[in-house]
Amino acid sequence: MKAIRAHQFGDPGVLSIEDVPDPQPGPEQVLVRVHAAGVNPVDTYIRAGTYARKPQLPYTPGSDGAGVVSAVGAAATSVRRGDRVYLTGTSGGTGTYAELAIADARQVHLLPDHLSFGQGAAVGVPYGTAYRALFQRAHAVPGETVLVHGASGGVGTAAIQIGRACGLRMIGTAGTDRGLALVREQGADHVLNHRAPDYLEELRQVTGGRGVDVIVEMLANVNLAKDLTVLAFNGRVIVVGNRGTIEINPRDAMSRDAAILGMTLFNVRDPDRASIDAALNAGFRAGTLKPVVGREFPLADAPRAHEAVLEPGAYGKIVLLP
Ligand SMILES: NC(=O)c1ccc[n+]([C@@H]2O[C@H](COP(=O)([O-])OP(=O)(O)OC[C@H]3O[C@@H](n4cnc5c(N)ncnc54)[C@H](OP(=O)(O)O)[C@@H]3O)[C@@H](O)[C@H]2O)c1
Repeated sequence: MKAIRAHQFGDPGVLSIEDVPDPQPGPEQVLVRVHAAGVNPVDTYIRAGTYARKPQLPYTPGSDGAGVVSAVGAAATSVRRGDRVYLTGTSGGTGTYAELAIADARQVHLLPDHLSFGQGAAVGVPYGTAYRALFQRAHAVPGETVLVHGASGGVGTAAIQIGRACGLRMIGTAGTDRGLALVREQGADHVLNHRAPDYLEELRQVTGGRGVDVIVEMLANVNLAKDLTVLAFNGRVIVVGNRGTIEINPRDAMSRDAAILGMTLFNVRDPDRASIDAALNAGFRAGTLKPVVGREFPLADAPRAHEAVLEPGAYGKIVLLP
């Protein structure tokens, strides 16, 4: 099969397409013919060798994908050969930037017919992160107001859709007109441009001076200090994305009884993951959750996709097509 391989850590140029042997599933595993693979920012940090997790070299990137079940191990009974599925992870040393990937049975989920493979590839990390941030970390309850600080990308569009479906009042930011229109289309009650100088003043007005209960933060090193000033009493900031350091005034948290909570999806344990999957699958089946695919690249263009996912002007999800 063809797969993207990295033989060393470094810039996107370390990714190249190669012929490698077809992987074979173990008894509790599923072999999937990948039709689309999700490109996440974390894939670029891992490729660069700057992330806490370092796979053994050479490796194939990618944890998210969707395709058709090609073989099942004897003990994997939840799906059958020919099923359309999406993956929330891979195992056996495989990755989704390939024609075939292996996943444990618990990482394989039926993909409803009305969702494309590209949409399936947009689910794993983005929707899992958005759900965990809102409900397992922030413990948001219907009626609360949420700011998704960076709502135009993979995690942000998912957060707006999920929050909206669950009765939260959703406010989302983007940095381009196109991104703002996208955030509005996902069901945001208000949209704000995080490149406008006065957008947090507008946020105060939109919330009647009260502030927001929850902030899902995609770029904490830029925004965390400001976030603490626009939280309501008992507010929670969930740090989802961060690319550096920042100075904050702790008094802004003290005066509001506010909390700053970190999260990484890699820390999620099986019972929480099963709960996330159950909630998301219900949303996909009901049609309230509809992943947005903004750009598609052929598999061989993985280096270009890794550049694109870090460029400003996010618009939903970037996927690779093997
Ligand atoms: N903790 C975890 O487990 C976890 C899981 C998934 C993702 N993440 C991280 O979360 C971040 C978002 O992931 P993603 O997949 O949604 O990435 P993405 O698709 O590339 O989207 C990035 C988002 O950040 C926005 N942004 C850019 N500058 C901003 C600013 N100054 N203030 C607020 N938002 C800004 C972008 O808006 P414009 O482009 O419109 O300006 C866009 O909405 C990344 O840093 C990623 O590594 C963490």
